[in-house]
Amino acid sequence: MKKINIAIDGPAGAGKSTVARLLASRLGYVYIDTGAMYRALAWKALQRKVDPKNGPALLSLLKEIEIRLLPTERGNQVFVNDTDVTTDIRSNEVTAIVSKISQHQEVRTSMVERQQQLARHKGTVLDGRDIGTAVLPEAELKIFLLATVEERAKRRHEENCQKGIPSDYASILEDIKQRDELDTTRTFSPLVKAKDAIEMDTTNMSIAEVVERMYELAMERI
Ligand code: C5P
Repeated sequence: MKKINIAIDGPAGAGKSTVARLLASRLGYVYIDTGAMYRALAWKALQRKVDPKNGPALLSLLKEIEIRLLPTERGNQVFVNDTDVTTDIRSNEVTAIVSKISQHQEVRTSMVERQQQLARHKGTVLDGRDIGTAVLPEAELKIFLLATVEERAKRRHEENCQKGIPSDYASILEDIKQRDELDTTRTFSPLVKAKDAIEMDTTNMSIAEVVERMYELAMERI
């Protein structure tokens, strides 16, 4: 069967990573969480005390490190060189600066190259903010996931509670609003729906329904 690339974009908390992982597993494809790559750089920047506003310093830091994404049943296991940072990149400290780090053009150019390399053999599902527009403009299937900001915050809060992570709905809502603002207004590759992307509002859809719809769309193209 022909292999395709699938781009899934959308704002924070729209459920991209969950549905992208499940879709990839159903198709036997590789799932690549591009947000985890920006988070890995943010984690390293915090460790080295690099200013999130300093694009050139962030780029040299990025060039020094190898970011590896290993597929697992629960998503990507993330390594910076030999350190497993899978849990640490989800910390509040990383979340607070990641959208500042992802603003810089030099950082984005280098990340996009890495992501294109990972997708070069096709048979991949990438999720992020600029996959359909910048990373894989030729992707055979592009999905733009939406949900209201309140629904996205509620989902993130419930997910944290299930995982036993201390969680506060009001601060999650605030964080998501701030990241939406930074991600949609940045100068380089802002979060925007690609012209040929299919929009899906998941506010009233279950995860299974979203995955099923995406699977149907993928099968039409394979
Ligand atoms: O997907 P996730 O919420 O983990 O992404 C964290 C941050 O990384 C986003 O808020 C955004 O600033 C940045 N990002 C990006 N481009 C991508 C993926 C993530 O700018 N393709």
